[in-house]
Amino acid sequence: MTAPTTVVSSVADARIVGPIILLGAPGAGKGTQAKLIACTYGIPQISTGDLLRDNVARGTELGVAAKALMNKGELVPDQMVQDMVIGRLHEPDCSRGFILDGFPRTVPQAEWLDKFLEKEREGKDAAGKAAYAAPVVIQLQVDYNLILQRIAGRRSCPTCGRIYNVYLQPPKVEGKCDVDGATLVGRPDDREDVVKERLKAYEQQTLPLVDYYSSRGRLIAVDGDLPVEEVMRQAFSAIEHVNRL
Ligand code: AP5
Repeated sequence: MTAPTTVVSSVADARIVGPIILLGAPGAGKGTQAKLIACTYGIPQISTGDLLRDNVARGTELGVAAKALMNKGELVPDQMVQDMVIGRLHEPDCSRGFILDGFPRTVPQAEWLDKFLEKEREGKDAAGKAAYAAPVVIQLQVDYNLILQRIAGRRSCPTCGRIYNVYLQPPKVEGKCDVDGATLVGRPDDREDVVKERLKAYEQQTLPLVDYYSSRGRLIAVDGDLPVEEVMRQAFSAIEHVNRL
């Protein structure tokens, strides 16, 4: 899928885009939309789930600690995730903006992020300040039954990270990535019993972020039930609106 050229002419315009947060339940489409936004605006997608899975695969100290929790559908402790995120946000490719996918996920993480962004703005010129402005938060609202179907059908490419769905967005050749032909894989935490726990963690620990951000005037809700292209159009128009203000 290609991003629409009517919204943003090209990555070459190299504008500074303030931080974007994608908020939504497991399977809501955060990763799918984050990749499209990243590709269009030329800013990095920072997925805490992907970063943690990379640590698990490499067997780091963080990965070993996170693995057991992730396999049970529980959240990894705030401090561990924040320490991982701060390292990533200090990499040079974040200086034009970034998309946070799956972070923050608790109110303490959101408070930490606000303090981090405020500190980063200090002493920066206007362009630097814009890259670390208060984030725009796009909430993907998706019906519960759709979430279950999306998670049950999800497969992804272990090489390029492209996300598919055997029911809703199948690859051209069954089980193979359209881009590089790699064999698609499922995620260990997409088992039904684990998904139940992930949804519980979302309701109890992440949903309070809706109030946190809407009370600060930063939340824009998008109808995530719609097809990918339509969700993308709504998300892009929210980003363009906020960046024009
Ligand atoms: P993480 O990897 O972040 O998982 P998640 O939040 O549960 O989200 P998912 O990746 O399952 O879904 P998604 O919203 O990205 O949907 P996708 O685009 O893939 O976290 C995993 C674990 O890591 C957590 O459980 C926790 O343990 C830990 N963790 C991570 N961050 C943490 C943090 N900040 N603090 C503490 N712990 C943390 O789409 C799903 C499917 O639907 C795909 O098949 C896709 O093709 C399809 N699809 C998407 N959009 C559409 C659409 N509009 N129409 C039709 N199909 C669609």
